[in-house]
Amino acid sequence: MSKVKAIKLADEGMKELEWAEKNMPILTAIQKRFEKEQPLKGKKVSLALHLEKKTGQLIRTLRAGGATVRVASCNPLTTDDRVAAALTKFDGIEVFAWANQSTEDYYANLNSVLDSKPNLLIDDGADLINIIHFKRPELIPNVVGASEETTTGIIRLKAMEKEGALKFPIINANGAYSKHLFDNRYGTGQSALNAIMTITNNLIAGKNVVIVGYGWCGRGLAIRARGMGARTIVVEAGDRMPYAEETEPSGWHKGLEALYEGFEVMNMEEAASKGDLFITATGDKKVIDVKHMKEMKDGAMLANAGHFDLEIDIPGLEKITKEIKEINPNCEEYILKEGKRIYLLSKGRLVNLARPAGQGHPLEIMDGSFAIQALALEHLAKHEGKLQNKVINIPTELDDYVARMALESHKIQLQPLTDEQREYLTGFKEGT
Ligand code: ADE
Repeated sequence: MSKVKAIKLADEGMKELEWAEKNMPILTAIQKRFEKEQPLKGKKVSLALHLEKKTGQLIRTLRAGGATVRVASCNPLTTDDRVAAALTKFDGIEVFAWANQSTEDYYANLNSVLDSKPNLLIDDGADLINIIHFKRPELIPNVVGASEETTTGIIRLKAMEKEGALKFPIINANGAYSKHLFDNRYGTGQSALNAIMTITNNLIAGKNVVIVGYGWCGRGLAIRARGMGARTIVVEAGDRMPYAEETEPSGWHKGLEALYEGFEVMNMEEAASKGDLFITATGDKKVIDVKHMKEMKDGAMLANAGHFDLEIDIPGLEKITKEIKEINPNCEEYILKEGKRIYLLSKGRLVNLARPAGQGHPLEIMDGSFAIQALALEHLAKHEGKLQNKVINIPTELDDYVARMALESHKIQLQPLTDEQREYLTGFKEGT
């Protein structure tokens, strides 16, 4: 039995789902194939994802493939109640999600999706996978595998793998080029600024915008902020991330890349007094802390585009505050004891998704990302019992398929290699 805010919103939600379908050609093509081939027949699938129209299209695709689906949100603020109602009423999906859940309800809903004893999981942030491993291990034998959507979740899961704690295979959907190159960069770049502009109705041009973290999300935020006329500053960690692959750049490489890209680069101590708008996207905690806040200008705005709400030290901010006023549902004014004002957007939770202002990434972006997710579950089902209990990459042919389909949706054909070129690239005898 679903638990949603109001089933009467279902008709509105269906219009949203129909609009998503029209703009998600890759997922629609996969859905048609799934209907015929039934790769998920008999499988119970539990999801913890930001529940909005694009996610609705993924859910309908999994159902078309023969799965029974239960879904909860992976964040207390990001459910579109209209879509939750439509999936319940028209598609018979068991939905346990609504916008503005308490922390208690959030965890109760995650547990409800697990009560079905799922075989396959899709997680965004790894909370679901974490609960199974550490609170409900009796569910582990049913699980064929899981797929993880986001950088933050993959960091947690790689740490579990290193400790030998992973009990089923995890597909790193975030590791697919079709995901992180586009979703993390162009998706976050557009959707976070879009939400910030909706919340504040402020001009971006002329502002000092500080982007904290220059991973794929930070890169996207920085290029889009610059594109809108912001004076853009990048803050990076002078360190190498624990558990980072050797092939990944360190913070020093990223800082240098940002510099060569033409951004101002500095540490947070220096940036604190300069910024008008700060956006965090690091996956780490307290990257903006109280000592930084004390240096900030009157009226500085803080937003987070990273997965969890710990990047900005909100408990610390509360301690130096004498009064909090709501400006609108996504913006609170913190009046500090010293008299200065700081604006916190969307309670420091994912600004691009926190409702009502956050709409998530653009449809075309999530089409690619969720195509990867659908193919990841198909891959797990096809290779049941044969994959190792590790964080594994999605096969390159599936990744290539999604990129090719995305280009085709733009009516773009690329130049194929000739036989002669292929031979040259695979040989070693031809010289100068
Ligand atoms: N919509 C649904 N899931 C999303 C995600 N992980 N990021 C941005 N938009 C989304």
